[in-house]
Amino acid sequence: MKAWLNKRNDSWSEEAVRYGLSAPKGVLLTGVPGCGKSLVAKAVSSLWTLPLLRLDVGKLFGMWIGTSESKMRSAIQMAEAIAPCVLWIDEIEKGFRGVGAIGDSGTANRVFGTFLTWMQEKTKMVFVIATANDISGLPPELMRKGRFDEIIFVDLPNAEERRQIVRLHLQKRLKKLLDEAEIDTIVRKTDGFSGAELEQVILSGLFEAFAERRDVVMQDILQAVQATVPLSVTQTEKIDALRKWAQERAIPATSNSTYTRPDPGFRPPGWFNR
Ligand SMILES: Nc1ncnc2c1ncn2[C@@H]1O[C@H](COP(=O)(O)OP(=O)(O)O)[C@@H](O)[C@H]1O
Ligand SMILES: [Mg+2]
Repeated sequence: MKAWLNKRNDSWSEEAVRYGLSAPKGVLLTGVPGCGKSLVAKAVSSLWTLPLLRLDVGKLFGMWIGTSESKMRSAIQMAEAIAPCVLWIDEIEKGFRGVGAIGDSGTANRVFGTFLTWMQEKTKMVFVIATANDISGLPPELMRKGRFDEIIFVDLPNAEERRQIVRLHLQKRLKKLLDEAEIDTIVRKTDGFSGAELEQVILSGLFEAFAERRDVVMQDILQAVQATVPLSVTQTEKIDALRKWAQERAIPATSNSTYTRPDPGFRPPGWFNR
């Protein structure tokens, strides 16, 4: 995904236009919750040094009939006035859930239609980066060619990625890192953990150590790991379904996903309720 984004940096410049390129339309990021979709959306704007606008589709739907469509149109106008910019639509499935539903007055459909037409026809550099945790609720028209440039699937991090995530979050907070062998142990014991879950166990370990006013040790983090039942265990089926969907329609964010399914015999501790 980073390579894809890097390749498109400056593709909206005058030089690129003279070369014959057209500005990228945008990407739809889907995948396992907590693996960095929202993070990437925010990071794109600093990668490309473009302003970031956030569109909350849910909030477009006002109480009064007709206001939602004009709100969508003014959001689009504002984005185009600021262009080149990044337009971030987080959890787009929540906003467009009502589309096509029986009983809806048609407002959701019209707002959605306005958005689709704009995506299809826009020429201004407003790079739309939409994220979705749950693609089952998304209208299929959104995924049709000509709307987004790519649908990208963000899977659980593999061992090497977990190492980088653990290191990053330790570095962010500690002056003295754990040694490589210790980081290695954490990486081995966290197969199936998302980035957000890795961050969480590191934080828990830090709390543990701070409560006793001492430096954090590997054991603090491992204890938090043991007390955590990752989403990949509690929601195995949902994640498998998502993965299957993505295999046919999306490109993987990393080319070397090596996630192995958790041991089916694994049972969360009884006291743990998620
Ligand atoms: N790949 C990653 N690298 C570093 N941190 C991550 C990664 N994935 C998740 N995180 C951490 O977890 C937090 C939540 O991730 P987020 O981007 O909100 O996930 P998503 O939108 O996919 O549900 C991030 O702010 C970050 O601190
Ligand atoms: Mg998110």
